[in-house]
Amino acid sequence: MNIVSKIKTYELKVVQQILALGPSVLSGMKCGRRFYFIDRQLWEFYERPLKQFVGDDFCLLIEALEENKSYLKLAGYYKALIEAGFTRNDCLVTFGGGILQDLSGFVASTLYRGIKWVFVPTTLLAQADSCIGSKTSINFEDSKNLIGTFYPPDLILVDLDFTRTLPDAAFNSGVGEIIKFHLLSDERRYARLKNFLASGDLRQSPHIREIITSTLEIKKSYFEQDEFDTGIRNLLNYGHCFGHALESASGFSVPHGIAVIAGMGFANRIALGRALINEALVRELELMLRPFYPAIDFDEVTPESIISYMKKDKKRTGPGLTMILLKDIGDAFKAQDLSEEEIGRVFDQWKKKN
Ligand SMILES: NC(=O)c1ccc[n+]([C@@H]2O[C@H](COP(=O)([O-])OP(=O)(O)OC[C@H]3O[C@@H](n4cnc5c(N)ncnc54)[C@H](O)[C@@H]3O)[C@@H](O)[C@H]2O)c1
Repeated sequence: MNIVSKIKTYELKVVQQILALGPSVLSGMKCGRRFYFIDRQLWEFYERPLKQFVGDDFCLLIEALEENKSYLKLAGYYKALIEAGFTRNDCLVTFGGGILQDLSGFVASTLYRGIKWVFVPTTLLAQADSCIGSKTSINFEDSKNLIGTFYPPDLILVDLDFTRTLPDAAFNSGVGEIIKFHLLSDERRYARLKNFLASGDLRQSPHIREIITSTLEIKKSYFEQDEFDTGIRNLLNYGHCFGHALESASGFSVPHGIAVIAGMGFANRIALGRALINEALVRELELMLRPFYPAIDFDEVTPESIISYMKKDKKRTGPGLTMILLKDIGDAFKAQDLSEEEIGRVFDQWKKKN
């Protein structure tokens, strides 16, 4: 897949057995030395082949925690690269999911005002969604993604085999974003999503490759029209206004994509309260979404904390609270006039159902 970005055109390649192939898969990248940022848990699963892949090159292992995506941790990442002798001709290679991507992308976009960067996404979410689209994000205190840049990798290498070792919560988190993109697409793709969800064990689904490609195509169609997120791309925040607030209010114990699934269900209840969406569709989507967040304890989350984080949402531009609302499959809009009273009332009703 070729991605046309206003920053640079870059390529996403699907490669099988990337670790067995070794660093020769990077031979297309014209750069000096390679420096690696690798997800620590991934390293534990694939230590031997990753060690062989990295060889004597510099490697920093980073735990995939939202705290490590914080601006306070940035100094450590710059320091590690600078002290290891990184020059402008060298290349940062990241193996990991969305957290490693977000922090590496930010470092890559700012160190020496921009360095070469390769991303190997190893979670379902990163492979199907975050790897393209140019966004890099850093959390500010306990609010999500308030700091960031637009800076795509020079090359993305996807090996679907990595997802075999993903814990269930991380896998389902990726399914959350996949669902979101298909609800923002069209009836044909929505039918494809239903096929995928109906296919039993989703990890073994014969539709997995097709659904990842479909998700990337939907995302591409949005951001190639509005890469810098000033218009239509805002709609991809469906599920995120509530979802980000839930992640923060739960102390990041709820994984990102799972919070987005809960956020879509919540947004649908707001839309239903405003008679914008058909009740049968809300119920159909609830049946689809609910199994993905069995473990969230909503008693631990107060409407006040949700509202206080929603007030800090970066998509908010006026006095009202903001939320992307779905009216029908492929038909969403940005509501900017939500009141605290409406959020609190729907939250109380919604909590009883969950
Ligand atoms: N930049 C973007 O466009 C964008 C888009 C969506 C989400 N995000 C961000 O992505 C983050 C979520 O990313 P994620 O869902 O990929 O989660 P993650 O990066 O937190 O990884 C989830 C878990 O899986 C582990 N892991 C990674 N690869 C593995 C593998 N192959 N086998 C076993 N374990 C593995 C990690 O160590 C971690 O414990 C959030 O911070 C979210 O804000 C960014």
